Amino acid sequence: MTEIKTVAVIGAGTMGNGIAQSCAMAGISVSMVDVEDRFVRRGVETITTSLARFVKSEKLTPAQSEAVLARIVPTTDFAAAVKDAEVVIEAVPEVMELKQDVFKRLVAGTRTETVLATNTSQFSISALAAATDRPESVIGMHFFNPPVLMKLVEIVRGVRTSDRTLDVAQTLTRQLGKESAVCKRDTVGFITSRALAALRLECIRIHEEGIASIEDIDRAIRLGLNHPMGPFELNDFNGLDTALFNTQSLREAYGDRFIPPQSLISRVRSGMLGRKAGRGWYDYSGDKPKPIE
Ligand SMILES: NC(=O)c1ccc[n+]([C@@H]2O[C@H](COP(=O)([O-])OP(=O)(O)OC[C@H]3O[C@@H](n4cnc5c(N)ncnc54)[C@H](O)[C@@H]3O)[C@@H](O)[C@H]2O)c1
Repeated sequence: MTEIKTVAVIGAGTMGNGIAQSCAMAGISVSMVDVEDRFVRRGVETITTSLARFVKSEKLTPAQSEAVLARIVPTTDFAAAVKDAEVVIEAVPEVMELKQDVFKRLVAGTRTETVLATNTSQFSISALAAATDRPESVIGMHFFNPPVLMKLVEIVRGVRTSDRTLDVAQTLTRQLGKESAVCKRDTVGFITSRALAALRLECIRIHEEGIASIEDIDRAIRLGLNHPMGPFELNDFNGLDTALFNTQSLREAYGDRFIPPQSLISRVRSGMLGRKAGRGWYDYSGDKPKPIE
């Protein structure tokens, strides 16, 4: 498979600007499109700040950093951004109708051989592909936050995704200096979200059963299993509401082993959503997070 030279990223938010930066750092020309100038500008500012950190830590020279920035074309012109792309990576908010609308426009505005990837965290790739008349070109490329540092791309095949599309997605992943894990069937939670939810639920149950404290469970998973964060710390970081929503989708797909625990439901109902709310499993109002048992 020949190397990819041009990519378009749709959405310049948290994931989109990081994916665009990863592509540019790999020497790929990338257009980064959003709906308004201010969102595009914010994306470019985030990339500029990140590149400055690479320069400060001497991982890039100032000249290399400038060259990376020069490879990124920030724009609000959707048609121009996608016209010549070999791969498009969609990273707009997790709203099915919005993504389907983007995919319809992509099919109309790209060449037939262009691979259309989505960074969706949980939607069915086949359902997104069904909104197009090129389902063989649609694939999931699930990056992790922050995309510039995280080494995995979870690649998800839809029912009709072609072998060539898979090949292109794997080639691009390698070019970005990342590794892929392929989810061969398009199933809820793919690999990572499903496995992480199982661990999180079991840890919440251990806490509910009074077997260990929040801090001790986090410490056990961090130091004993070598995870960078404990499940409660991570859940506070990502949001308890998101975790509850994911658990409900997993329960619909796989049954009662994903029943949401009562303590998760009641914390979400009382607005304890994690860091963004100042309280979740921990209270963030002091100097140091304090567990709320
Ligand atoms: N944030 C994460 O940790 C994370 C991790 C993996 C996957 N994801 C997935 O990545 C996707 C994007 O998430 P995010 O956190 O970057 O969201 P975000 O809200 O930070 O960014 C989305 C961007 O898309 C733009 N946008 C909306 N409609 C658009 C359109 N029609 N055309 C172009 N741009 C448009 C918005 O203005 C916004 O700037 C979602 O599907 C999400 O589930 C997120």
